[in-house]
Amino acid sequence: MSAVLTDVPETKPWALRELPAFPSITTKLLQLLSSSDTQVNKLVDLLRSDAALSAELLRRANSALYGFRSQVGSLQHAVMLLGFDQMKSLAMAVSMGAYLKSALRIAALRRCWRHSLATALVAEQLARHMKLDPDGAYTAGLLHDIGLLGLMVNYPEAYSEMLVVGSENAFDIRTVERAQFDVDHCEAGAWLAQQWNFPEEIQQAAARHHEKPADDHSSLTACIYWSSRLADALGFLVNPTPDLHAYADLREIMPGGKAIPENPSEWKTSIGAKVDGFE
Ligand SMILES: [Fe+2]
Ligand SMILES: [Fe+2]
Repeated sequence: MSAVLTDVPETKPWALRELPAFPSITTKLLQLLSSSDTQVNKLVDLLRSDAALSAELLRRANSALYGFRSQVGSLQHAVMLLGFDQMKSLAMAVSMGAYLKSALRIAALRRCWRHSLATALVAEQLARHMKLDPDGAYTAGLLHDIGLLGLMVNYPEAYSEMLVVGSENAFDIRTVERAQFDVDHCEAGAWLAQQWNFPEEIQQAAARHHEKPADDHSSLTACIYWSSRLADALGFLVNPTPDLHAYADLREIMPGGKAIPENPSEWKTSIGAKVDGFE
């Protein structure tokens, strides 16, 4: 599988040794996400099997962010109110956040997670204009920097110091990663996504989201490439990089860019509120 991915390292990169296993609930959610005939009760059964996740999902469904007037008392009820797709996306983000928890104490690393969440939310919108599945785009956005998240879970201190030095000198993040870890986060992501049996499209996004797509390209990888750049431009960036584009420029250069808001301030605020809700 994945012979098309040229940059999957052949052997396990040392920097990913001893990485805690990807949570099995998250893997099962990914499988549910990629099958089109999933039923509500299957999702609810899966979520119920993890008490901490269920409790956290109920807490969020009851938070002001969703503005429901009555108390949301059960996962079934939450799915009814939020909708099936939104519930899947929320569960995916909450379970990933739990996996990253210890690393998220460090501010620089929290920025990486905020960037992933913002990319997911932007991708969800962009997918609608690109006629792609918004739900799948959300998940791919959430996981596109999985290599970066993996390195940061394994080496929180070293990675955050590297980010500081990199940003002071406006170095390209992948160059500094290779210098420090012998692997960059796209290679690391390709490797992890393959090891963890992510759907093929997500493997592609993890491996290729820094390669500028051809202009007429309307694949999920292209959607994630532009979403990650837009998340940066909206202020949810990991690091200032030499190729950072302003929002207005991105809107000009990306195919179909005119479909996104001319003034991004409302978009930025709504994404910010959702991203904040995850902290
Ligand atoms: Fe990236
Ligand atoms: Fe990114």
